[in-house]
Amino acid sequence: MSYQRRYALVRPLPRSFSFALQQSPAPIDVDRAHVQHERYTEVLRSLVGQLIVVPADERYPDSCFIEDTAILVESTAVIARIGADSRRGESSAVYSVLHKLQQIEPSLRLHRLTEPATLDGGDVLQMGGKIFVGLSKRTNKEAVAQLEALFPGRVVALPVAAGLHLKSVLSALDDATLLVADQPAAHEMAAPILAALPGASAIHVPDAAAANVVRVGDAVLIQDGFPASETILMDAARVRSLTVHKLDMSELIKADGALTCCSLLLA
Ligand code: GLY
Repeated sequence: MSYQRRYALVRPLPRSFSFALQQSPAPIDVDRAHVQHERYTEVLRSLVGQLIVVPADERYPDSCFIEDTAILVESTAVIARIGADSRRGESSAVYSVLHKLQQIEPSLRLHRLTEPATLDGGDVLQMGGKIFVGLSKRTNKEAVAQLEALFPGRVVALPVAAGLHLKSVLSALDDATLLVADQPAAHEMAAPILAALPGASAIHVPDAAAANVVRVGDAVLIQDGFPASETILMDAARVRSLTVHKLDMSELIKADGALTCCSLLLA
């Protein structure tokens, strides 16, 4: 399977990011967050066919976490109804950009989740042809039902027992390798994913933040600043001949942001 991506969508960090939602309040250095997000953007720009920048919007402090606004499954984009009221409007600008992209990518199909569904893209893991959906404070069963209607037989729902989102504690390194935070709740969440993917296995890392990586082509973006997890991730990357890009996202982590949160990737 190729992990090449023709497009990546990112959304610049607004100055209002200091008011982003936080599970554990901690002061955010917005200047530093901006630099970290810019670096992420530049690394991604070097790895994808075309980087599309959705205009920043000061009304939405969390809007740099563009992953929550949509899920992209092959040539279908499903626009989410974000679970947090203060964030729901973030999807409109992403819809507009994808609608415009249809002019050069006519095979791109757009759908919208509709009320009462709520879903954050951070609760969706695509791996091995399946679409795993975490039922969380943000994502509900109605969203699962609407996704199942769009992608019959591919959707697997599971409870989010730790972290804000499903991908707060796990992510796919490739279609056969799940990275999982080494904590009981994350192991519990990984179990139904591994059960649905014969032949897949897990790699455990001690830090939850480090369990979230972005795989693009033969490269992988990992979190800088978690040395114990990094040793494990570097080893996993080496045996797969992957180029590693280390990114310090410490200020975005304070707003529960992970690496996957900051982009939408289109194959
Ligand atoms: N700060 C990200 C979120 O709560 O959605």
